[in-house]
Amino acid sequence: MIAPSILSADFARLADELAAIAGADWVHVDVMDAHFVPNLTLGLPVVEALLKVTDIPMDCHLMIDDPDRWAVGYAEAGAHNVTVHAEAAGDPVKLAKDLKAAGAKAGLSIKPDTPLEPWLDVLKHYDTLLVMSVEPGFGGQSFMSEVLGKVRQARRLVDTGHLDLLVEIDGGINSDTIDLAAEAGVDCFVAGSAVYNADDPGKAISALRDRAARIRGGA
Ligand code: DX5
Ligand code: ZN
Repeated sequence: MIAPSILSADFARLADELAAIAGADWVHVDVMDAHFVPNLTLGLPVVEALLKVTDIPMDCHLMIDDPDRWAVGYAEAGAHNVTVHAEAAGDPVKLAKDLKAAGAKAGLSIKPDTPLEPWLDVLKHYDTLLVMSVEPGFGGQSFMSEVLGKVRQARRLVDTGHLDLLVEIDGGINSDTIDLAAEAGVDCFVAGSAVYNADDPGKAISALRDRAARIRGGA
């Protein structure tokens, strides 16, 4: 699955930018609060407006403090998957239950330096694991291959039935790096600049999906 990130889109033309990625599996929406990360993007009112103009399942990535207070609103608005950061959540198990009760999938994200092990029990309650492959905050950064060990570990746990979730990766994914991520076992690839800086975003999505499928298909 390919989830283009609208962080690299033209914020003055978001409806058109959603139309340009009609072939995407999910659309990834980065919510940043200038506290959890040193950047500020958009919040629930913009997400609600975007949900009205697209049928692409929305993947909301909340890079915010106190997600226990704010995340459920995104699920209630109709987001398909709502991801919170393990480093910010107060009661991540309750939060997963609340997100699912509100009709969304629940996602847990870990920053590049956050180990996977302490979160394995919590992850039993989650539908997606978002492994950050850049420090969260900005698009267009370089892929950190050192996070692939966590991806491989999560893949093994899913394949052996210890976890039941989609493994998602976010940051620095492009036609060069997607092979490494696919080999490690990623199911869903977020790509911001690689899609929106391409001349044809639709073609960029297909090309990324083909590369990943060639590797995962043979896995
Ligand atoms: C970074 C965001 C990413 C970002 C990815 O904090 O979470 O979703 O948009 O952008 P690229 O694909 O350009 O690294
Ligand atoms: Zn993101």
